[in-house]
Amino acid sequence: MDIKTYLLEKKEIVERALENYLPRQAEKGGDDEYPVSLRQAMRHSLFSGGKRIRPILSIAAYEAVGGKGDKILPFACALEMIHTYSLIHDDLPAIDNDDYRRGNPTCHKVFGEAMGVLAGDGLLTEAFRLMTLVSTDHPEIVVHVIQEIAQASGISGMVGGQVADIESEGKEIKLPMLQYIHTRKTGALITVSVRTGAKLGGGDEKTVHAFTRYGEKIGLAFQIADDILNVEGKPELLGKATGSDLFKKKATYPSLLGLEASKKTARDLMESAIDDLRPFGLEVEPLREIAQYIILREN
Ligand code: IPE
Ligand code: IPE
Ligand code: MG
Ligand code: MG
Repeated sequence: MDIKTYLLEKKEIVERALENYLPRQAEKGGDDEYPVSLRQAMRHSLFSGGKRIRPILSIAAYEAVGGKGDKILPFACALEMIHTYSLIHDDLPAIDNDDYRRGNPTCHKVFGEAMGVLAGDGLLTEAFRLMTLVSTDHPEIVVHVIQEIAQASGISGMVGGQVADIESEGKEIKLPMLQYIHTRKTGALITVSVRTGAKLGGGDEKTVHAFTRYGEKIGLAFQIADDILNVEGKPELLGKATGSDLFKKKATYPSLLGLEASKKTARDLMESAIDDLRPFGLEVEPLREIAQYIILREN
């Protein structure tokens, strides 16, 4: 299979669905028409050209277990909205203070800090509303998935990881703490994206378990690759600044282990993730390819 074509096709599906869930203009005179500025700020970041890897992972896992139709789309879009909110807040002056994201000025640079906070709040809240709209014969699975997504995004997941990340700035931390940060600030949402697809697609317990191991490994590898790209990536391809981790004295894999050992760690994780998929056949080929893409990517 050609992974580039696969990613492009799935990305288009996600873009269309996002456009549908957060249209440029709400219905004229509708309750949600106002405030236009909030809608603009949310759309500025949401439609700035992200890779959409989390929604794509959820769709790939859903289809791998035999999931059919569009039921995954509200969840795929919700995962992307939660991710985009995390980026808007991550870029705020109070956190990473970054000016560029997805090749454009960051949300707060265009709309101001208050609107950056609120656009993030809006995306996070909207994500959870979306997920409740799905019609399903298995409400208990849907409720469980929503709870897992909340957990992965919250105190013991992404938000907790972000806290540990900023509290570790300028400090010499050890590898277990760095792993704690990376598996939470980034790994948790990636893992839950895979689990969401597998669970909603009707995957059995063994499959969900194997996919979870896979997700945890590619999730950590994804953030290690992000750390490496911050050292040797090209800003024009990344759409965001490089060299900023060193400048902010962030704890990263390259700063702790060096570049070569970081690359090896990412490669080992990728191989081990693919190994977790050994019991499966052609249906998990996209997941295998995504694991490789995650560490070979240039943006
Ligand atoms: C960037 O995520 C922030 C991390 C969690 C590493 P992505 O690399 O997925 O960013 P987009 O969505 O493609 O912009
Ligand atoms: C981003 O981590 C993690 C989240 C937004 C949750 P980083 O701060 O390392 O990612 P970039 O490099 O700004 O995208
Ligand atoms: Mg950060
Ligand atoms: Mg950042």
